[in-house]
Amino acid sequence: GKDGDLKDKKFLITAGPTREPIDPVRFITNHSSGKMGYALAERAIHRGGEVILISGPTNLDPPLGLYKYIQVETAQEMFKAVMQHYPEVDVVIKAAAVADFSPKHFEAEKIKKHGFNMIIELKKNPDILQELGNKKQHQILVGFAAETTNAAANAQDKLIRKNLDFIILNDLTQEGAGFAKDTNIVKILYRDGRIEELPKMLKKDLADEILDRVFLYMEQYQKL
Ligand code: PMT
Repeated sequence: GKDGDLKDKKFLITAGPTREPIDPVRFITNHSSGKMGYALAERAIHRGGEVILISGPTNLDPPLGLYKYIQVETAQEMFKAVMQHYPEVDVVIKAAAVADFSPKHFEAEKIKKHGFNMIIELKKNPDILQELGNKKQHQILVGFAAETTNAAANAQDKLIRKNLDFIILNDLTQEGAGFAKDTNIVKILYRDGRIEELPKMLKKDLADEILDRVFLYMEQYQKL
């Protein structure tokens, strides 16, 4: 049985979208529901892990038994919370869909409509996973990739560039995969070039599959 196999292991899991404000009533976001990240947190707790869940805005209830639950809105806030807790954890799983850009200026007053077109200037957000990769010491670092074109090549590139141990690639072109669904279809890419294809399954079951691989990886590299 898997019960207790992750006992005392410390996890940092991110989930959900980030929300980048334009003015007091508007924001930029994406379709992440948080289901994948919350499922990972729930299963890791169930298996004995100590879990810090850092979440963007979602409609989900946090799983029972979290060590810490930190709610954030923006990518900048998620960055701060993640970096603060990074040194104390053994495993980081970044299931959050972090907005890559945010409005350059926050308008304190609701923007009025003038004319037909409007331009909102965006600036690049910090790449949290890249920073984790740069600062990696003992941690196991697991990323996700949401791609629509050249999926495997882009995911492989992220795996190496961001110094990850493995990366979970959602196949967004397939029915039943990716954002907001209860199921997902993924490939797992490893640093030695191996690619493992998993069938369509519930996010809850996929969470266990991912945690199985984290466990094996820890054993293999004596990170237990
Ligand atoms: O939340 P659900 O509705 O259940 O959907 C799950 C999911 C599809 C959101 C999830 O499985 C997923 O794929 N999350 C990552 C989506 C994403 O942002 O992919 P990306 O290819 O843009 O980013 C790659 C990795 O870098 C991700 O681990 C992301 O957390 C991280 N990243 C990206 C940008 C940024 N500024 N900082 C980051 O850390």
